[in-house]
Amino acid sequence: MPFDPAVIRASFAVVERRADHMAKYFYAHLFSHNPEVRAYFPAEMAEQRDRLFGALTGLVLRLESPEQLTGYLGALGRDHRKFQAAPEHYPAVGASLIAALRHFSGHSWTPEIEKAWTEAYTVIAQVMTGAAAEVPPGTPAWWEAEVTGRRRAAPDVVVLTLTPMRPYPFLPGQYLTLSSPRVPKVWRPYSIANAPRPDDSLEVHVRRVPGGLLSTALVEDVMPGELLRLGPALGDAVLDPGSPRPLLAVAGGTGWGQTKALLEQLAATRDPRHVTVVLAARSDADQYDLAAVERLLARCDRLEVLTASPAPGAGRDGATALVRDALAGQGDWSGWDIHLSGPPDLAPALADLLFDLGAEPDLIRHDPVPETFNRARPLTSSDWFLDRRDVPWINRTELG
Ligand SMILES: Cc1cc2nc3c(=O)[nH]c(=O)nc-3n(C[C@H](O)[C@H](O)[C@H](O)COP(=O)(O)OP(=O)(O)OC[C@H]3O[C@@H](n4cnc5c(N)ncnc54)[C@H](O)[C@@H]3O)c2cc1C
Ligand code: HEM
Repeated sequence: MPFDPAVIRASFAVVERRADHMAKYFYAHLFSHNPEVRAYFPAEMAEQRDRLFGALTGLVLRLESPEQLTGYLGALGRDHRKFQAAPEHYPAVGASLIAALRHFSGHSWTPEIEKAWTEAYTVIAQVMTGAAAEVPPGTPAWWEAEVTGRRRAAPDVVVLTLTPMRPYPFLPGQYLTLSSPRVPKVWRPYSIANAPRPDDSLEVHVRRVPGGLLSTALVEDVMPGELLRLGPALGDAVLDPGSPRPLLAVAGGTGWGQTKALLEQLAATRDPRHVTVVLAARSDADQYDLAAVERLLARCDRLEVLTASPAPGAGRDGATALVRDALAGQGDWSGWDIHLSGPPDLAPALADLLFDLGAEPDLIRHDPVPETFNRARPLTSSDWFLDRRDVPWINRTELG
């Protein structure tokens, strides 16, 4: 390894407390020195401004085990083609990262520290740009897709059918990132809610998050005939091919979409394994898509589905309690493949419970858990200052 990770970690400890301010400085530096790059980023940066910066610092700090990161960085580099990130932008981003660190480190910044950070950033940038350059010729940076169907499935949930203009490769269990011209440059991940279809159409289930930029547009405004952009399929919460083990899938809310894709794949391949699905919703009204559940039950002999929706008024906590009871009632989950999908806090909480109930960590799969979820947007600069926040960076399961 060309750089010393201990030097990097020690230097970051000095500035970590001011990560928010560093992120602001980083973007100000990037955009003032490279005004053309501003156009690639969303207009509204209050919530997202720390995505790239947080990722950068988080990745550098984790570079001690680069072999764990190679697959993730490769996917990130290929995915960055949709942001129109070109190789010549990478040195600019690196320079702004170093400038931000140097500014906030004051006298503790030394040539040795600068060398270590520069070398670490160079390793990351090389893997990302190398992977982007190796994308097979003809692979688009993003896929245009027409909204060809729209169904209000629950009060705050729409099921959108998307028809990509060209074949869109994916595996059931993966997610795509989506962007609408109604909210330019804002990309968000959504699970693909179907196995591959003969007409290549895709389904996504979107819940409106209060104050959410893209989910509000998708649930309230986006209509059939509109075009959306899709980034390449991501995620590794796919079925373990040929596994002889029984499968438990626990889905909360729109997490049902991901589970549905897995079940459709099992049905299409006539996979003989036993499958138990626990399907949780906040209320009966939110327990949407039961017709699709019925269709899958008719196709799969060895599928059992438990629905958990609490009494009116019990809300999410009531749903969580029902799921916990259902899982604990079964007793022992050792030897099961387990898939968890749903709101960001579902997977970590249920994984802990399932470990206690015998589940094996290596057999549990779920999507990355974003660390920035559920943070109130600070209203004033003093809120930003007083509100201690973790160094946020994308927490993908690929990172181990
Ligand atoms: C791998 C992955 C797969 C996902 N799949 C789906 C899916 O299939 N269907 C779906 O509806 N959503 C899914 N999401 C969530 C989705 O990507 C967006 O985060 C969500 O739609 C909110 O985006 P927004 O632009 O509307 O909100 P933003 O403008 O980003 O956020 C507004 C506010 O809501 C909070 N917030 C953001 N996301 C959530 C959330 N999920 N729950 C509660 N509060 C939140 C933010 O912290 C912020 O305070 C998935 C997320 C990940 C990481
Ligand atoms: C080693 C360098 C880089 C790393 C590690 C990195 C990492 C990341 C990560 C993890 C995200 C969040 C992704 C997501 O939310 O799906 C992101 C977002 C983004 N990155 Fe990069 N990136 C790098 C370089 C670049 C470069 C050179 C550009 C070119 C302009 C760029 C442009 C963007 C844009 C536009 C976003 C979206 C920001 C937002 O949603 O607010 N990145 N980056």
